Amino acid sequence: MEGELIVRKIREGTVIDHIPRGKALLLLRLMGIKGDEGYRLAVVSNVESKKMGKKDIIKVEGKELKGEEVDLIALVAPTVTINIVRNFEVVEKRKISVPKIVRGLLKCPNTSCVSNNDPEAVSEFSVRRESPLLISCSYCESRLSGEDVVKQLSGD
Ligand code: CTP
Ligand code: ZN
Repeated sequence: MEGELIVRKIREGTVIDHIPRGKALLLLRLMGIKGDEGYRLAVVSNVESKKMGKKDIIKVEGKELKGEEVDLIALVAPTVTINIVRNFEVVEKRKISVPKIVRGLLKCPNTSCVSNNDPEAVSEFSVRRESPLLISCSYCESRLSGEDVVKQLSGD
């Protein structure tokens, strides 16, 4: 693969492959990686892919992704493959799937929604459509598009 011409293989960690081009930095934000955590990190953007034309790749040494990080990635970039690498070998290839329910990760846009007013309430959205993404609040039915989700997660 072209990416290997730019960045060598890693010993231990996670390779997030088949990221739609231009979305690598967004995914890093979703994972809360700012670059000062001490992970050895490689971001490869706009490399050739047989399947996708152009793609991005992220390699993080020494990090395994948490379940909710995988869910967020699945929402905004369902094409990605997550490769777990140990001792230079890919030991697991996880084709991710869009979750049916997303709990506690996103905020309802409706300020009078119970999820924004009851401190005990945990936000919850159900996925209505995967592509293009459409999710709705389980409390008040307010809807979020993929673009809304990306905006919210990018802190805009
Ligand atoms: N990789 C890496 N370090 C390793 C092993 C793999 O950085 N020690 C990277 C590869 O460069 C590639 C991704 O992890 O970007 C997946 O590796 P592999 O499964 O070997 O590649 P493919 O078979 O091409 O993957 P796919 O079929 O998912 O396209
Ligand atoms: Zn709501």
